[in-house]
Amino acid sequence: MQDDHFLTTLQDHARDVETLLGALLSSEALPGEVARPERLFAAMRHGVLAGGKRMRPALVIESARLFDGDRLAALRVAAALECVHCYSLIHDDLPAMDDDDLRRGQPTVHKAFDEAAAILAGDSLLTYAFDVLAAPETVLSATIKMDLVLRLARAAGPGGMAGGQALDLEAETKTLNGDEIRQLQAMKTGALIRFACEAGAVLSGAPTEDIDRLAHFGRVIGLAFQLRDDVLDLVSDSATLGKAAGKDAARGKGTLPALHGVDWTETTLKTLVEEAHAALSPYGARADMLKRLATYVATREK
Ligand code: IPE
Ligand code: IPE
Ligand code: MG
Ligand code: MG
Ligand code: MG
Repeated sequence: MQDDHFLTTLQDHARDVETLLGALLSSEALPGEVARPERLFAAMRHGVLAGGKRMRPALVIESARLFDGDRLAALRVAAALECVHCYSLIHDDLPAMDDDDLRRGQPTVHKAFDEAAAILAGDSLLTYAFDVLAAPETVLSATIKMDLVLRLARAAGPGGMAGGQALDLEAETKTLNGDEIRQLQAMKTGALIRFACEAGAVLSGAPTEDIDRLAHFGRVIGLAFQLRDDVLDLVSDSATLGKAAGKDAARGKGTLPALHGVDWTETTLKTLVEEAHAALSPYGARADMLKRLATYVATREK
């Protein structure tokens, strides 16, 4: 696949999901809501709309496209997932967690607003994600919606992302072995990325076999994604990343690059990309965009 085709497609997906997110986070209250507090919504918009690669939305949209799923429904699911992801970043940056001042090249939400606003913006985005999935504008059968709700809840919750964040913080004061770090990463980062990949198949009504294949692809690139994040923290700088660099070692985070070194990580990333590509081989050229996304995850510069 041509690089410029890949990049324009990625930009198209990002633009479409951002337009939808902008509309979803407008100040106008929905039926059943009492009112939308202006400052809370400003904090939510800051956390969601101020930059971001929109990699998870791209995975949802492309995995739906693979099974001829409806693009509008895919965009709604992508937007719901991006709300959960942005909530996780807002809370991840809080003083009680990673204590970061910079995110996506902007002040973090608790810096631009205050801690209470950041906590509530995160809470609101997490809840709102399930509103977006369940709302009538998401035109999918009740069975498929319920399946997506359950999968997203399990990926984001105590046995997924939030649980992984708890383990990540515990690991600051103890030494984890490689398997323990892999499990932590499969939870804190891997679970939402796996959801992104399987959700496209689920919303398209694809057979279980395909959902499982996409979930496997998601697990593999989820690990690659966090490995790349951890390498970039080691070797890049905050101007390039738009967030603090060199923080993991300073905080004693349990990461695989810290345990095995950068060379091992680069070799492992190559193997993971091959494994991800192999997982999609039954789909041939139709999966080129997803394959290219796997390479991007493992080689990105920010
Ligand atoms: C950063 O995720 C947090 C991790 C899970 C490592 P991204 O690198 O996808 O952040 P944005 O959305 O592009 O800012
Ligand atoms: C964060 O991992 C994962 C989640 C937000 C769930 P990191 O703490 O490594 O992410 P960055 O480096 O701050 O983006
Ligand atoms: Mg963290
Ligand atoms: Mg962090
Ligand atoms: Mg990091």
